[in-house]
Amino acid sequence: MKPLTRSILVRNTRREDIEPIIQLCSAVYSNAPPWTAAQLESHLDLFPEGQFVAVELASGRVVGTAASLIVLWDDYDMQTSWREFTANGTFSNHDPDHGRTLYGAEVMVSPTLRGLGIGKALYQARRALTERLGLLRIRAGARLRGYHRYAAKLTPEAYVMKVVHGEIGDPTLSFQLGQGFHVLAVVQEYLRHDPESLGNAAVIEWINSLVAGPKDYTGRNLRFHAPAEPRSSRLLAAMV
Ligand SMILES: CC(C)(COP(=O)(O)OP(=O)(O)OC[C@H]1O[C@@H](n2cnc3c(N)ncnc32)[C@H](O)[C@@H]1OP(=O)(O)O)[C@@H](O)C(=O)NCCC(=O)NCCS
Repeated sequence: MKPLTRSILVRNTRREDIEPIIQLCSAVYSNAPPWTAAQLESHLDLFPEGQFVAVELASGRVVGTAASLIVLWDDYDMQTSWREFTANGTFSNHDPDHGRTLYGAEVMVSPTLRGLGIGKALYQARRALTERLGLLRIRAGARLRGYHRYAAKLTPEAYVMKVVHGEIGDPTLSFQLGQGFHVLAVVQEYLRHDPESLGNAAVIEWINSLVAGPKDYTGRNLRFHAPAEPRSSRLLAAMV
């Protein structure tokens, strides 16, 4: 894979990255236990192509990571929690024989290197993987990281509407909307113990237009459609 800039490379995760990912996770999520070595090893055993790290070339330091699995969406529903979508973080539910959905289980970037395009590069790698495998889409739960600041006055759904319409910036969802994702639903028990989202998440989707047909866009809730969001001709076709 090509370097993102002169200094950062995105590549598939290797066994030697496991300990650095655990350290990165501890720095990113101070209120939650980090990924365990057993979980990360399981990801590499089951779906090595789906695991990425961003590495600082000069130091060899892991500065970001994205972890994904393939799911058969019919086995789940919009209210499913992160724990169930990831089989307690093990990805033992990875189903490449039947699934057409890449499920984004994790993306994180070192707190000291945010805003430099590393998250974007990790998402580019995910989209390229989805296209290469001929999958229909990427779905994920975007934890509503800024929601705790608005919880006293807005429901999670009202908060998401304001983020989608650009009235509020959310550190996670605003980033993902910028990566071409669309909100499908708001769920309230996605990450039960997360003090920032208070458990709330937006189920988000990016569709692989190389393989999708008009019916694949019909699950989208147009209430969550940002006014400035480009509407593809396929989506317009699905709306009429
Ligand atoms: C979400 C996260 C991965 C973004 O990584 P990042 O490397 O800082 O993002 P990038 O620098 O690649 O930003 C890409 C784009 O998103 C935008 N963006 C990034 N953070 C943003 C924010 N807080 N608010 C609004 N937009 C944001 C950038 O401006 C950039 O836009 P551009 O393409 O128009 O220039 C990072 O903030 C993170 O690790 N968060 C903590 C972990 C987490 O919550 N992960 C998500 C779990 S659901």
